[in-house]
Amino acid sequence: MNDSEIERRWWKEAVVYQVYPRSFNDTDGDGVGDVPGILERVEYLDSLGIDAVWLNPVYASPMADNGYDVSDYRAIHPAFGTMDDWETLLEELHARDIRLIMDLVVNHTSDEHEWFVRSRAGDPEYRDFYWWREGTDAEDVDWESTEGPAGETPPNGWRSIFGGPAWAYDDEREAWYLHLFDRKQPDLNWRNEAVRESVYEMMEWWLEKGIDGFRLDAIAHIGKADGLPTDLGEPLNGTMKYAGNDPRVHEYLTEMNEALFDRELLTVGEVGTPTIPDEDARAYLDPDRDGLSMLTHFEHVRLDQGGAIYEPGEWTLSELKAVIDRWDALTDEEGWVAQYLSNHDQPRQVSRFGSEAFRRESAKLLGTLLHTLRGTPFVYQGEELGMTNYPWASLSEFEDVATRNPVERAIERGEIESFEAVREAVAKASRDNARTPVQWTSGRNAGFSDGEPWIAVNPDKETINAERAREDPDSVWHYYRELIALRSEEAVGDALVYGEYDQLTPDHESLWAYTRTFEDERLLVALNFADEPTPIEFPAADVEVDQEASLEPLLANYDVESETTVADLLDDTLRPWEARVYRVA
Ligand code: NOJ
Repeated sequence: MNDSEIERRWWKEAVVYQVYPRSFNDTDGDGVGDVPGILERVEYLDSLGIDAVWLNPVYASPMADNGYDVSDYRAIHPAFGTMDDWETLLEELHARDIRLIMDLVVNHTSDEHEWFVRSRAGDPEYRDFYWWREGTDAEDVDWESTEGPAGETPPNGWRSIFGGPAWAYDDEREAWYLHLFDRKQPDLNWRNEAVRESVYEMMEWWLEKGIDGFRLDAIAHIGKADGLPTDLGEPLNGTMKYAGNDPRVHEYLTEMNEALFDRELLTVGEVGTPTIPDEDARAYLDPDRDGLSMLTHFEHVRLDQGGAIYEPGEWTLSELKAVIDRWDALTDEEGWVAQYLSNHDQPRQVSRFGSEAFRRESAKLLGTLLHTLRGTPFVYQGEELGMTNYPWASLSEFEDVATRNPVERAIERGEIESFEAVREAVAKASRDNARTPVQWTSGRNAGFSDGEPWIAVNPDKETINAERAREDPDSVWHYYRELIALRSEEAVGDALVYGEYDQLTPDHESLWAYTRTFEDERLLVALNFADEPTPIEFPAADVEVDQEASLEPLLANYDVESETTVADLLDDTLRPWEARVYRVA
């Protein structure tokens, strides 16, 4: 890699920090985080050194899915504050050179959005804004439903991503509507030009306010295949196959790109299908087609997902590397990826990919990985403190529809005996792990709220909290600051952002070593993903690393010798969850 081969962009160099506002900081005591709460913490974000904030939905919403069910795209939900608060936030962030990315939720709206209300009433202007269909004769098909007129079942057999059928019967319109997520989230009909125009107008409205980009929620699902075919042999009976990465998605995004995108915006598309074929990935990222800056794929976070939330799987390090390597190769010449291990839809990364027994070390190691791979690191709130999963004891403690719905349905259908029978698996996998409030102090409600928090606070706030972390020079927080700062150092930064990535240990199940090379600058990263020591061994046959080269440590999560050589390193052993970043001289 050299300078002529790369395209410099601010969003490649940036570290993005994700704020899930409900759980960030509450200033009015209603137990729900709010925009003034984010304002109070702008200094915190600035001193961490991040470059952009991705703000989860703060729009008007009945909150069936915590704001991913939008009832008015141009209004701020009163629990989060006012439009004035939001404008102040934008100003305060911009004043510190921090950009703001808004969540764009346009695969679906809330069923309380005016478009849906008018659509269900048959208003000619809005009739076709959603997917309305007649039901099928229950005798003719193999899928069932517990609602709708007697003898009728939904129009096709698709299952919702949140469990149950993907259709709901509407008494007013006397027809079924499609909802890939919750029944309160009807899917917009993107085939209708008026829908697309209305969405672009709304996006333009936000861009004019001065935002710096969008995170495109569930964007892989906006296109649906002709005839909405059912395939009972496919995941969710065909939902993912026929309503995921359909060629129409690229038509719509190309149109959106032409209408709205310029290359200074950060546009990150959420593509949650089990896998993303190469040609789709390329289409999403091609500046002359869909024009997205980067994608969040789910391939690594699916490694330990079995089927339903209560059916756990296991991940292995070699599989994790294979996913990362695949995406690095795919975006080697064009395109970019968002690097993340957690967000509001995933359990806490330390508990999942690290080790609670070595919490501090493994939190730092995972941070090292994220900030030294090629791609833009996305840090999810609390990750910089090493926050962990919550000790869930009963189903009623969960707030999330995507946790409760499938478990409740499986119990009703007799597929599982009780919550207790699946408690461990659900506790490990639930999205609510990420949604417990950010721990600011060891005090009441972890300093998140003076009122009753909307969701449980993790009892480990006593030891894991921002106040303590900022006072402790050896904390995960300070280590994250250093990682973030490294990315803006001149030569090292170029190697970290733009450098070629070479995997040295593809098959090893605890050691991950790789190099990043840009022009004359070469970095070597070595990570031990284990509670036990691991002797260092590399390289894989086809990567050349000079044994005589000397190594200067740039960052490490244990004390290391100030200078060594590659040959010496190969005699060395990494301690549990040890992470080292060297400059190769
Ligand atoms: C993905 C979002 O991240 C998630 O939180 C939400 O439930 C679904 N899309 C539906 O909008």
